[in-house]
Amino acid sequence: MGLLQDFSTGPLAQRILQLGTGSQIGVAIASFLFLAVFLNVLQQFLFQNPNEPPVVFHWFPVIGSTITYGMDPPRFFDENRKKFGDCFTFILLGKKTTVYVGPQGNDFILNGKIRDVSAEEIYTVLTTPVFGKDVVYDCPNSKLMEQKKFMKIALTTDAFRQYVPIISDEVNNYYKANPDFKGASGIVDMPPKMAQITIFTASHALQGSEIRNKFDASLAELYHHLDMGFSPINFMLHWAPCPGTTAATTPSAPSPRSTWTPSSRAAPAYKGGIPVPDHEIAHMMIALLMAGQHSSSSTSSWIMLRLASRPDIMEDLYNEQVAALGADLPPLSYEDLAKLPLNQAIVKETLRLHAPIHSIMRAVKQPMPVPGTKFVIPTSHVLLAAPGVSAADPQFFPNPEVWDPHRWSPDSPNAPTMVRNEEDDEKIDYGYGLVSKGAGSPYLPFGAGRHRCIGEQFANVQLQTIVANTVRWFKFRNVDGSDKVIGTDYASLFSRPLEPAKIYWERRAGAA
Ligand code: HEM
Repeated sequence: MGLLQDFSTGPLAQRILQLGTGSQIGVAIASFLFLAVFLNVLQQFLFQNPNEPPVVFHWFPVIGSTITYGMDPPRFFDENRKKFGDCFTFILLGKKTTVYVGPQGNDFILNGKIRDVSAEEIYTVLTTPVFGKDVVYDCPNSKLMEQKKFMKIALTTDAFRQYVPIISDEVNNYYKANPDFKGASGIVDMPPKMAQITIFTASHALQGSEIRNKFDASLAELYHHLDMGFSPINFMLHWAPCPGTTAATTPSAPSPRSTWTPSSRAAPAYKGGIPVPDHEIAHMMIALLMAGQHSSSSTSSWIMLRLASRPDIMEDLYNEQVAALGADLPPLSYEDLAKLPLNQAIVKETLRLHAPIHSIMRAVKQPMPVPGTKFVIPTSHVLLAAPGVSAADPQFFPNPEVWDPHRWSPDSPNAPTMVRNEEDDEKIDYGYGLVSKGAGSPYLPFGAGRHRCIGEQFANVQLQTIVANTVRWFKFRNVDGSDKVIGTDYASLFSRPLEPAKIYWERRAGAA
């Protein structure tokens, strides 16, 4: 008896009891998971709502299709489009997310009425800690429309005329001074170089030399903190105190009113004459710089990598400049850019295949019937537009997977079909000037509707100037001489080339 008692209270028995409890917890968790998966699957088979788009099959609730979507969004869209057509729903971090691709889908979401869709509800968690309070998505949409008008002050043709020499100087000084471009040839990881060239050119053009010069020292660090705020982790866990998401409100942000450049015009005022407060001007300046940085830097990286995969096209670009501007290649002017159609097409074609914003999202504010279907999108869903899908659709772009800048010349066998000239498109003014509606267009890398990009012309001027100067300096090719192109990194909210992405460069004869 005593022996039995010893055993029941002894350490061995406690260990066995612990194991028993541990395995019971394990069994309970496994049963719970099994039940959750079982009910989730059952529910998908039994309760399909015929008035809502079909739902992509998924095993686990909440996780849904988050992982397959996140690994390669374009492939996810493509595969499900083949199964369901242009409109379908998937679970993204527990949220029913309705994708609507193709020109009708782009129009339905991007030109959605203000009473039906909201961008600020989705984006504010991400952008407000980076840009700061009371601007862009931290204010009513009508205020954003006025702010876009103010931001456009820096984006006029007159301003662009001044920017081209500024951008050219930055690019040329960079190649002259950077140790990775010393000598007659070399191998370089291109995306970090393009990230620097983008921030130097954009800050100098949009904010002036005073701010630009700070990028070599103090502001570079501030900027890095702001940049960190754009990671997807902040999108999902915006309530967590992530480092790097409060820099916009620190006092070392650029001093506002005095630097409302390019030529320090009269300070702007909202409707009714209400002056724009200093902190809003500062935050708009940050927004202007940040909004373009990722997109332009990703695009210029893709351009350089594509050129390395097609040295013949890089040669075409050089020859185009010699033919249009003369063999002495004088310093580039804004007017010169219009004389270089292939140089323009390089940007256009790269954005067709590598649009940096692959998913554009909107909250649904009231049930939205999808024209021509029996679907009604309820307010519990988020809408997702992906203009990149129609931009890679063979229905509109013959041999869509081929990066062919020449396709944008009208007689090319790969010339796009059914892409109208923007000049012929219906125009609308949301408060920041006339913009093309883009309704029905399969090519919308700059979006459409009231949230359409205001930086399109600046990005074009900046990218075309960077490319034109780069081809004057170098010949590029892939390190292994192949025509391969590196894969895409979708881990950031803005897609970009996987890194390192190294290319081989050779200095052109006569380049400084
Ligand atoms: C909006 C793309 C460069 C400033 C957008 C949108 C897209 C886009 C797709 C629409 C987002 C939505 O509907 O939710 C691009 C691409 C760029 C580029 C592909 C470069 C290749 C720039 C630059 C600037 C800029 C350089 C600033 C100088 C803005 C602003 C908005 C915007 C202020 C408005 C956001 C809104 O109204 O909600 N851009 N962008 N972008 N972009 Fe860009």
